[in-house]
Amino acid sequence: MPGKGRVVPANDKGIQEAVDLLRRGRLAAFPTETVYGLGADAANDKAIAAIFEAKGRPRFNPLIVHVADKKSACEIGQLDPVSQALIECFWPGALTLVVLRRPSCSVSLLASAGLQTIALRMPSHPVAAQLIKAVGVPLAAPSANRSGAVSPTTAQHVADSLGDQVDLILDGGACPQGIESTVVQVVDAKAYLLRPGAVSRREIEAVTGPLTSIATREGAPVSPGQLENHYAPAHPLRLNVASVESDEALLAFGDPVPGNPKAMLNLSPACDLSEAAANLFAHLHALDKAHCRTIAVMPIPEDGLGEAINDRLQRAAAPRKSWSTTGN
Ligand code: TXA
Ligand code: MG
Repeated sequence: MPGKGRVVPANDKGIQEAVDLLRRGRLAAFPTETVYGLGADAANDKAIAAIFEAKGRPRFNPLIVHVADKKSACEIGQLDPVSQALIECFWPGALTLVVLRRPSCSVSLLASAGLQTIALRMPSHPVAAQLIKAVGVPLAAPSANRSGAVSPTTAQHVADSLGDQVDLILDGGACPQGIESTVVQVVDAKAYLLRPGAVSRREIEAVTGPLTSIATREGAPVSPGQLENHYAPAHPLRLNVASVESDEALLAFGDPVPGNPKAMLNLSPACDLSEAAANLFAHLHALDKAHCRTIAVMPIPEDGLGEAINDRLQRAAAPRKSWSTTGN
């Protein structure tokens, strides 16, 4: 059921309009502290199916359910003590927990994509929080981009990527953190990092002890969204450059490398990783539009938020063969 892709300010009137649409099973995009989400009533099978359709997302890739409070999370999922400790530390905020579904939970099975688990997050962005509270039901919301494309951090990015596939886009300005939530799953009291994100490994490990990486452990929980490359701009990326060619665009970090690029944007002239994360997707969108042969990317240190930034850059730079059938 395609809509008009109308962008409206995220004031009380706009939020009420989004509430009315969501209650009728339609789709509305909204800002969170990480990226814009494409929201639908999590209990409505048709609305969830419409999310997969609008994004062109493969059905095996499950969705995050956004809740207004911890009580609502407890009604949906079985929260083990480690997950509860993480929730106490990081909610509301950019941490998603994958937990076992309660048999009684009303969230559409489609949102779990055939898994026994469900991903839960309580966003801190005031617009997201107000919207979820006002709708009165949890909202399933993947990032509001076509599957495989660069994630959206402004309402305009959503309009450019999804256009009339979404009924309404609430414009709450640029997303302050700019990179998706960290996804963690606890199995047998052991915490696994399913996706690095806006809460750093170090912050999580202060609560859980060392995180287990899913790539290195047999029998580890699955992370369908991490199996394939995505975040792909139309133009290829060249990573860790030491110099830039004159027909390239440069995505700089700190002092630019030598060369005379056709276009340049700096993730953070002062080498601040929070600033770099906040700028990452917006700069990739903008440099993609400069239509240079490639986007040359300077090295980013792997510590703190650098792990999530490098994860997104490596996926964006990976060979494209599978991007049209996979991704987030
Ligand atoms: O910051 C965010 O997380 C944003 C905002 C809108 O909240 N949302 C977001 O959603 O990034 P999406 O769909 O683009 O990415 C969700 C990730 C995917 O990698 C997906 O595979 C994983 O979470 N995921 C969701 N449910 C899961 C589950 N039950 N088990 C394992 N991974 C799951
Ligand atoms: Mg995504």
